[in-house]
Amino acid sequence: MKTLIKNIGLLAGIVPEGVLRKEGAGMAETGMLENAWLLVEDGLIADFGTGAPPGQLSRHSAQPLRHSGLDPESVTVIDAAGGMVIPAFCDSHTHIVYAGSREGEFLDKINGLSYEEIAARGGGILNSADLLHETSEDDLYEQSMVRVREIMAHGTGAMEIKSGYGLNPEDELKMLRVIERIKQNIPAIVRSTFLGAHAVGRGYSHEEYVQAVIDMTPEAAKYADFIDVFCDEGFFTPDDTARILKAGSAAGLRAKIHANELAVSGGVEVGVQHGALSVDHLERTTSAQMAALKDSATMPTMLPGSSFFLGISFGNARGFIDAGLPLALASDYNPGSSPSGDMRFVMALACIRMRLTPVEAFNAVTLNGAYAMGISDIAGSITRGKQAKLLLTEPGWNLTRLAYQYRTPWLRQVIV
Ligand code: NIG
Ligand code: FE
Repeated sequence: MKTLIKNIGLLAGIVPEGVLRKEGAGMAETGMLENAWLLVEDGLIADFGTGAPPGQLSRHSAQPLRHSGLDPESVTVIDAAGGMVIPAFCDSHTHIVYAGSREGEFLDKINGLSYEEIAARGGGILNSADLLHETSEDDLYEQSMVRVREIMAHGTGAMEIKSGYGLNPEDELKMLRVIERIKQNIPAIVRSTFLGAHAVGRGYSHEEYVQAVIDMTPEAAKYADFIDVFCDEGFFTPDDTARILKAGSAAGLRAKIHANELAVSGGVEVGVQHGALSVDHLERTTSAQMAALKDSATMPTMLPGSSFFLGISFGNARGFIDAGLPLALASDYNPGSSPSGDMRFVMALACIRMRLTPVEAFNAVTLNGAYAMGISDIAGSITRGKQAKLLLTEPGWNLTRLAYQYRTPWLRQVIV
């Protein structure tokens, strides 16, 4: 099956084959073509270029695709009408599978309680775990799919989804099965992460629960692609994290770590030592930690939506890029610290609050996001051979306007 997208005003996000991530000054660059076309074949980007598309003598030509080797019968033509085409967003950090809502805590927060205070009162993650425990697997799937459809409609073409609201073996596996079902049922790319160590489950001592997570890991690995630990003050220590990551590695799960959201946690160092694919949050980071990340395979990932929602500091994204580091940005979509998966808003926050340029923010939510979920060889850019997960905008849009006019309707078609 072939699809030709013609009359593209701006094709942006073109990256040469083999470039799996961008870092430092390279983050300010991405390939662009004006007046372009793009050909999709069997779901993959087959070719793209400027000027008249293959088989079309000019943009207004009525000449069918005949002399081009493209059989007009088998080609679907999409007229982009001057719109921009970019790779779909790759959201490398979400907790989109959850039950119910935490609106009550939103009011607590408005009344002055911090995230830590709400958690200490048995709210927070444990509140979501209680709700999830009472929700059937089918209902959990349906509730989560509402959000999955929402973010796909807003341009997300690949998403990582974490467990972590089960906090006991049965409920963690329930979550992982729901994530697997989502993976099987949507055209977007899904990667699954076992986050048993999100909080200590009810009825366990801290030590008992760390052991329980280790014991759950082989079964979880039947579904999950990655393993994650909330390595932060009041949650899990670097020692706990190291033990859990070892169990993950024995089960074939690569690490993705929550670190430095609430305090400088030591999670960055543990993550890098264990070859983590990403370390996420990083609202605060020491220069020693930046040095540890430099030239490592680990993608630093920041979540400006949760800084915004919690009213805490934004990570030093500018400093990371200026120091030559790579950076990914993700939504952290979850009921407690970031109840939104809108990646254009993530881009806007990165530009407005973290002083990234729109192109840097764009690279952070596409190619580098794909890297942070282990799929940048198949997604995250306009590259021949990659999966055609594409966004087509209204006419006249460009990458700067995407972050600048961040509430104006812009998407014309999501092609996944
Ligand atoms: O990434 N920080 C830990 N986990 C989530 C919040 C989860 C929740 O509050 O439900 C986060 O911010
Ligand atoms: Fe998170």
